[in-house]
Amino acid sequence: MPFATIAELSKYDGQTLTLRGWLYNRRSSGKIQFLQVRDGSGIVQAVLVLKEVGEEMFRRVEAIPQESSITVTGSVRADARSPGGYELGASDVQLVAAAQPYPIALQAHGVGFLMEQRHLWLRSRKPHATLRVRAEVVRAVRDFLDGRGFVLVDAPILTPAACEGTTTLFGLDYFDEGKAFLSQSGQLYMEAGAMAFGKVYCFGPTFRAEKSKTRRHLTEFWMVEPEIAYGTLDDVMSLAEEFISFIVQRVLERRKEELKILERDTKPLEKIQPPFPKLSYDDAVKILNETRAAQNPPIPPFGGGDFGAPDETTLSLRHEKPVMVHRYPISVKAFYMKRDPAAPDKALCVDVLAPEGVGEIIGGGQREDDLALLEGRIAEHQLPKEAFEWYLDLRRYGSVPHAGFGLGIERTVAWICGTEHVRECIPFPRMMYRIYP
Ligand code: 4AD
Ligand code: MG
Repeated sequence: MPFATIAELSKYDGQTLTLRGWLYNRRSSGKIQFLQVRDGSGIVQAVLVLKEVGEEMFRRVEAIPQESSITVTGSVRADARSPGGYELGASDVQLVAAAQPYPIALQAHGVGFLMEQRHLWLRSRKPHATLRVRAEVVRAVRDFLDGRGFVLVDAPILTPAACEGTTTLFGLDYFDEGKAFLSQSGQLYMEAGAMAFGKVYCFGPTFRAEKSKTRRHLTEFWMVEPEIAYGTLDDVMSLAEEFISFIVQRVLERRKEELKILERDTKPLEKIQPPFPKLSYDDAVKILNETRAAQNPPIPPFGGGDFGAPDETTLSLRHEKPVMVHRYPISVKAFYMKRDPAAPDKALCVDVLAPEGVGEIIGGGQREDDLALLEGRIAEHQLPKEAFEWYLDLRRYGSVPHAGFGLGIERTVAWICGTEHVRECIPFPRMMYRIYP
């Protein structure tokens, strides 16, 4: 009998074949068993009729525990009521390995328990659908950037210095070289890459020792970071809106089934097309203060600085599309940000806030390309200059304006899937209180 996967059943209508998978669930009437069989590519119902297979096989299959590995042979038939459009008329079921009593029942469990069982929970419908969307997002990221002439330049994970502030660094001892750190961002290396290849990106895990337990923070998350030589803030703002729109439309096109399983209302996603609304930081503050004043009782005015999560939510809920907030005060942003020549207290930077309250999914902007100004910023931020000599070389040898951004994969997936917490958008989340499994 030929082996096939559930995803390709439509090619075998009317034929007999064998599936290799696991028993997801079973209903039995005593005379007919409905087996939900999953094989990673999908779930299909296999129907086992007592009269057809005989007493011995029927009772044997009835005793197979949930999540045992099995092979099922049967004929493929179209069935309009089935999710995939097909079911299997089973003629034979073989046990590969019987499962012990499975810890995850099909009814609801708490997320804490499920996260402890994450290695098994991946098999369940919703996590499975979420991670399929994630894989599609990753493919879209690569297709978009590869298709536009960006060269993949992998950034190192072990680094000698901070990129995004010293408070969220994971340190480790690095032989005789002293302290090393897990990378917070590949950006500085992408700046070197852009001077060598023009348009580059890196895509990999990044690390932040975040001591916050919010629904948006992981200690290990994946970020894609394009960087463009001769690029400006305007260039990367256009790139960001096209990039995000491409990713969302690609998922809508290719992962319909998964979005349905996740009960995601796709109408808001269909509207994600350029241009996105743009808002200067100063205008954003005005809006926040109006909103605060209108509360009952009124909330005191915004104190300045970076926006907190509730402020981001206020701003993003006003729009159907992601909102691009640009030109934050230079004092609240990273050392590498370029000053706006038209407003020296502002940085040429942009944060993209996703709709529906997910918060910032992109941070980026134009980089300081002047050697003396950059040296000043490194000193102001009390960063060890020796560790940045290579980075300063990029300004010593043919400095040009350049810009880029970082898109967080888990927050993007959370937004697209309508998932409350980013921990469900990565296969094995790492958070302040989670390192297992
Ligand atoms: O705004 P961030 O910190 O920007 C940078 O790291 C720049 N160096 C990127 C660049 O310009 N090349 O982070 C970028 C994005 C955020 O918008 C967010 O989506 C995600 O990375 N992110 C996190 N995601 C999950 N957990 C965390 N702790 C995150 N921190 C940032
Ligand atoms: Mg940011």
